[in-house]
Amino acid sequence: MSDIVSQHAYTLRSMIQHHDRFIVAHRGSSGTAPENTMSSIRSAIEAGALMVEVDVQLTKDDQVVLMHDPVLGRTTNGKGYIRTKTLQELQTLDAGTWFNAQFSGEHIPLLSEALGYLKQHKTCVNIEIKPPQKEDDHISRLLAIIESVQTLNMQEVTLFSSFHHESLHYIKKHYPTFHTAGIHLPNDKRLPSEIASEIGCEGFVCSLRELTHAKADDAEKHDILLGVYTINDESDFHKILQYPVPALVSNFPKTIKEFLQHLA
Ligand code: G3P
Ligand code: MG
Repeated sequence: MSDIVSQHAYTLRSMIQHHDRFIVAHRGSSGTAPENTMSSIRSAIEAGALMVEVDVQLTKDDQVVLMHDPVLGRTTNGKGYIRTKTLQELQTLDAGTWFNAQFSGEHIPLLSEALGYLKQHKTCVNIEIKPPQKEDDHISRLLAIIESVQTLNMQEVTLFSSFHHESLHYIKKHYPTFHTAGIHLPNDKRLPSEIASEIGCEGFVCSLRELTHAKADDAEKHDILLGVYTINDESDFHKILQYPVPALVSNFPKTIKEFLQHLA
């Protein structure tokens, strides 16, 4: 836990209030460790990220696990759709060797395992809810994800984000105190405040390529938390400094933290 974090209440609101710019580790410290694993989360916290972004998927037996893709092939030694595998089946897989042999034996974490670790280190979490597969009931998926958060009483430190705005709208309608952020959809011309007024989100996320002064100024004017991904090197960092963007979403939190420290 960083000294600064320990000086204020462990809530998302408080963390944002105390930091003009902060680092969100994208899939953990995914440039230096296999994405969405406990190793990438540990490295992110050590690097000084105040929030960790993770992607979640559901297993056949409705367990919520960290995984970006709906299929196993890219980041594990398994094959096929996660939704067709039980947690027990997934637990036999290696989620680290694809990245580097030094991470062999890394497992696919349950969301609850990741949340427990983040809570212990007083770090906020951004749970990205991946769009449901066609045959999936997006409400029951959401309820499983929400249950993991509520079980650990982490709703005040969690930001739910998604490209699937319908899911975020549902969360806000049924859990009005929860924090949500809409992710920019390709070719969507709406400003952050227009999306916020439609789905009730208090945050907006877009890629560096999609960032414009119109979007950044609109978010600032309407007090919408703006996050931009991914800020990975010095050139990205200098670009982002031209905009009022508080949440720097990075695969290399240690590098970006050092740039931020040099500014201070
Ligand atoms: O939240 C930003 C980012 O995570 C969205 O894209 O594909 O990296 O999950 P992706
Ligand atoms: Mg993501």
